[in-house]
Amino acid sequence: AIERTLSIIKPDAVSRNLIGEIESRFEKAGLQIVAARMIHMTQEQAEGFYAEHRERSFFPDLVGFMTSGPVIVQVLEGENAIARNRELMGATNPKEAEAGTIRADYADSIDANAVHGSDSPESAEREIAYFFNDSEICPRTL
Ligand code: CMP
Repeated sequence: AIERTLSIIKPDAVSRNLIGEIESRFEKAGLQIVAARMIHMTQEQAEGFYAEHRERSFFPDLVGFMTSGPVIVQVLEGENAIARNRELMGATNPKEAEAGTIRADYADSIDANAVHGSDSPESAEREIAYFFNDSEICPRTL
């Protein structure tokens, strides 16, 4: 089925000028960027986005990292977009990510891991709505 997923290019990748390289992988894989914005998240924005991790020991570091610099928040659309994006990203921990994935190629650590992607249809719906109104999502017409 055609799905949408929320993708974030994280501060480490933005800071290393990898936006184009990463977008190119999504586009070559047939995922369409149907919404995109650069933001520098506030602490409140990052805490709300990652609310499900609030009790985890890594939560303060996660929020600190995600507010350390600008990110690209975006919506990717395509056939099986949620799983496809996760395949392209590779495992959360770059040490465990398969060769050729975004995290294997560009990420340094489990914290600075270059990208985020929704992990289920339910989280995709919540995460897309967290950053975008319906009017900001622009499916292709050509
Ligand atoms: P992300 O997909 O953005 O979702 C939560 C983030 O927490 C994850 O990527 C990692 O960057 C970060 N993180 C740090 N430590 C862990 C951990 N032990 N397990 C899962 N995520 C972690």
